Amino acid sequence: MMLRKRVLVTGGVGFLGSHLCERLLAEGHDVLCIDNFFTGTKDNVLHLLDNHHFELVRHDVTFPLYVEVDEIYNLACPASPVHYQHDPVQTTKTSVHGAINMLGLAKRVKAKIFQASTSEVYGDPHIHPQTEDYRGNVNPIGPRACYDEGKRCAETLFFDYHRQHNLRIKVARIFNTYGPRMHPNDGRVVSNFIVQALKGEPITIFGDGSQTRSFCYVDDLIEGFIRLMASGDDVTGPINLGNPGEFTIRQLAEQVIAETGAKSKLIFKPLPQDDPLQRQPNITLARQHLGWEPKIPLKDGLKRTIAYFDDLLRRMKVEAAS
Ligand SMILES: NC(=O)c1ccc[n+]([C@@H]2O[C@H](COP(=O)([O-])OP(=O)(O)OC[C@H]3O[C@@H](n4cnc5c(N)ncnc54)[C@H](O)[C@@H]3O)[C@@H](O)[C@H]2O)c1
Repeated sequence: MMLRKRVLVTGGVGFLGSHLCERLLAEGHDVLCIDNFFTGTKDNVLHLLDNHHFELVRHDVTFPLYVEVDEIYNLACPASPVHYQHDPVQTTKTSVHGAINMLGLAKRVKAKIFQASTSEVYGDPHIHPQTEDYRGNVNPIGPRACYDEGKRCAETLFFDYHRQHNLRIKVARIFNTYGPRMHPNDGRVVSNFIVQALKGEPITIFGDGSQTRSFCYVDDLIEGFIRLMASGDDVTGPINLGNPGEFTIRQLAEQVIAETGAKSKLIFKPLPQDDPLQRQPNITLARQHLGWEPKIPLKDGLKRTIAYFDDLLRRMKVEAAS
């Protein structure tokens, strides 16, 4: 018989958090979702509010939290450059104070704790694809540092709590993930391209489009989270979770045009500062320790994501007209 666990998800109404809450409920757990609603929206969990095993609380992770839980997934943090650069000091606080508060909670209640770290800890990488032992090439004083260095410091805290207090930690380095419930206008490349294509607008490419990214569909990623949390205590991470399939930004734009049937043209703008040229995970560790690898091809994931945005844009149009 499976034991019902009490699971805390910080940042639970965000893109990834809402999918994680759904999955945990489906597995029969009690889910406490906390969020300060900075980038996430209640709409993402509206369908869960009637579930007696789901609880939503407005809370900012930069303040301590006192609850009894068995597992913590710490996802709270704005994830896209437009959002995390909006108030960079708050972004660092969210990563660092948020990690301290959640680690303190995990220590008090002896919970297992998962950290949503990021491929951004590798910065603009000198090695390709990135393995977990690569220490990264981050500009500590650039405009992305509030996020990159905040996440790096959070990892440091996780490992110090592990060494100093024997905390059971799980650190995932997440690579670009996409899917339904991404924000329609947060500047992330997949949502940007889809929204522009569905509106029949030109698709904006920063740089010449030859920079590469890997794109993981959200359901694949969440499966990785669950497997990592369930792994033995010796598996602490950091562990890369992402899709190793590599595409140029131009290829992505062309695929979005093909899947939406849009007539959009491509327009090119200068690359933002410190934008990495290549990003691709090496997922050997995830394969070995979790038996995990992504299953959903870009074409299928794009179809599901396009259907979501198509519906969202229609609803937004109706709301604007009424
Ligand atoms: N989506 C990706 O491709 C990706 C890649 C790497 C890492 N991550 C990490 O995964 C996590 C979730 O990302 P996402 O894509 O779902 O982003 P998101 O912006 O949709 O979700 C983040 C959530 O955290 C909440 N939040 C922000 N600051 C908070 C605070 N101080 N207190 C409480 N809640 C707060 C937001 O309101 C939002 O609901 C983030 O930590 C992000 O850094 C995501």
